[in-house]
Amino acid sequence: MSNLRHEELKKIIFKHDYNYYVLDKPTITDYEYDKLYEELLKIESSEKDLDISDSPSQRVGGKALDSFQKIEHRAPMLSLSNSYSSEDIFDFDEKVKKFLNISAEIEYLCELKFDGLSMELIYEKGRLLRALTRGDGTVGEDVTLNVRTIKSIPLKLKSNNPPELLEIRGEVLIFKEDFSRLNEIQQENGIQTFANPRNAAAGSIRQLDSKITSSRPLKFFGYALGAVEGISFRTQDEIQHFLCEQRIPTVLETDPDLVKICKGPQSVIEYYHTIEHRRSSLPFDIDGIVVKVNSVRLQNDLGLVARSPRWATAAKFKPEQALTQIKEIIVQVGRTGALTPVAIMTPVNVGGVTVTNATLHNQDEIDRKDLRVGDTVIIQRAGDVIPEIVSVVLEKRPHDSKPFKMPSKCPACNSATEKLENEVITRCLNPLCIAVVKESLKHFVSRRAMNIDKVGDKLIEHLVDHGLLKVFSDFYKITDIQLQSLERQGKKSASNIISSIEKSKNPTLNRFIYSLGIRFVGEQTAKLLADHFVNIQNLLNAKEEDLLQIPEIGPKVAKSIISWISNKECIKEIHELERMGIKISNPVRSVTGPLSGQSFLITGTLPIHRDEAKTLIESNGGKILSSVSSKLNYLVVGSDPGSKFEKAEKLGVKVISWDELNGLIE
Ligand code: IVH
Repeated sequence: MSNLRHEELKKIIFKHDYNYYVLDKPTITDYEYDKLYEELLKIESSEKDLDISDSPSQRVGGKALDSFQKIEHRAPMLSLSNSYSSEDIFDFDEKVKKFLNISAEIEYLCELKFDGLSMELIYEKGRLLRALTRGDGTVGEDVTLNVRTIKSIPLKLKSNNPPELLEIRGEVLIFKEDFSRLNEIQQENGIQTFANPRNAAAGSIRQLDSKITSSRPLKFFGYALGAVEGISFRTQDEIQHFLCEQRIPTVLETDPDLVKICKGPQSVIEYYHTIEHRRSSLPFDIDGIVVKVNSVRLQNDLGLVARSPRWATAAKFKPEQALTQIKEIIVQVGRTGALTPVAIMTPVNVGGVTVTNATLHNQDEIDRKDLRVGDTVIIQRAGDVIPEIVSVVLEKRPHDSKPFKMPSKCPACNSATEKLENEVITRCLNPLCIAVVKESLKHFVSRRAMNIDKVGDKLIEHLVDHGLLKVFSDFYKITDIQLQSLERQGKKSASNIISSIEKSKNPTLNRFIYSLGIRFVGEQTAKLLADHFVNIQNLLNAKEEDLLQIPEIGPKVAKSIISWISNKECIKEIHELERMGIKISNPVRSVTGPLSGQSFLITGTLPIHRDEAKTLIESNGGKILSSVSSKLNYLVVGSDPGSKFEKAEKLGVKVISWDELNGLIE
């Protein structure tokens, strides 16, 4: 059975997913998106025999699997011959020409070699039927449920006349920025962090529970085809454009300059150097370029050797590794009291960047690599940017070196540290620890929190050390004079700081909640809380069972929130912030309640303040409109109503009294 609105919603939602996840340019608000999604779910729950195989509702994680099914690839997933120098590119070109017996310059399509996890997406009659990992190249694992949770991958191709079979090969990866955030979350939860984005992507795809996968920021880039039926292509370039047209994410879509058709090896080498320069500024990891003969006819003529095509090769970038020595291992204390060991090394240049520090993550990692002060180590920039210690050169270890042990006292406040049995992280449990306080204040001002951009880490350290800053509300009490009395703080910069603090006084509710730095409450959870509770007071009054009503919030997160809001000091601080002029707004109101789906407008004087009345309507799921129109469901009329009253009567909009409104809510 089909339902026109259902078909339409599937298309609209996919378009918005594409705008958001592929183009990174959403055209509607999260609230509007949620409404569309809600409507879709409503139709699907009321009409049972609809076609939901390509519905966005099928992306969410379902029941966990016991194991992945092994499935044979229709066409083997090949590997590429590798090379590390420009001479190798000349060699490759020579071989191609010799094999084909051609003397003219060959046209190559050059693209990025993604450092992720290769994946095959199988579309039959335009629908995503299955997704397989590469496996050993012949047999892969069925990870369809997990791949479906990647929002940028279409469940249905765009074409109205799709080919019978289309196998799309590409790479699943995690962008660098998303990776750092993911690791922060892992760290906060006391779970092992990932060494690099590729490991994180592989770990996420190989989850038996697709709910976990759906929480990971996975992306996909398509670059080649496997078996196809009912369509053919003349060039590799044509394949790329076809993938784009079908809304398969490709790097061509992201930035057309990253893919280039090169005539002859010299031009390929130029491309190699251009990309090598751009490597560190790309938002994802690559480890080289891939060179493919552009003509599909010539590709077929060239065929395979062993498990690699003769028509393609990978030119890798030189690994960015270097030798240096660990001078010291310091221990940093984070906002949640987590202790992180950091190696301080003799400065060394790795691929153009001077590296002095590398995080050692935790005691388990240090033990696993057996790292000691004085050790000579091989370091590399994992994920192009984050320096990582790969291994120790044991022959160079000083005779008197000793294994490193995390301190039993917090290096910042000297109180006892603790490592829970099932956690890898050692923590300082003192909530008043000076390091914890400083980090919380830094989090409060950070860009995605209150966004007080003129207050940097150094200034916070300074202010705390001078006794001018202890709690969030102190930011709003700092004076010009106090700032100028600090060293190196001029008049101009002091006034910039004050105005940047002033500018932060109107946060949205989700940002405000996030700024508080409640353990386990990241941006996403803050948004859920803002949506659910509508205003800060409701959140502060919440009971554990209220929190657990939100499907995405589990007992651990609920407990942490309850513990925060039951702390009198914390509540006092919120009120102090409000007293200092913080006004919290909430533009995202997707609460459900007795007034859900209905719109309201108020005219005349009500028994309570108009703002309170609006909040009441919104916290019960209603929406406030700004003018009378045929879209308005109810005009709420108090004493001395204005012209809105007449207009509503004319348009046939329902007019209700304050008591009637309360009746609707009850
Ligand atoms: S084409 C026969 N294109 O490299 C052609 N592969 O060593 C095979 N890879 O397992 C694939 N970026 O995961 C191709 N732009 C790209 C690639 C790419 C990364 C990976 C792929 C494959 C490995 C081959």
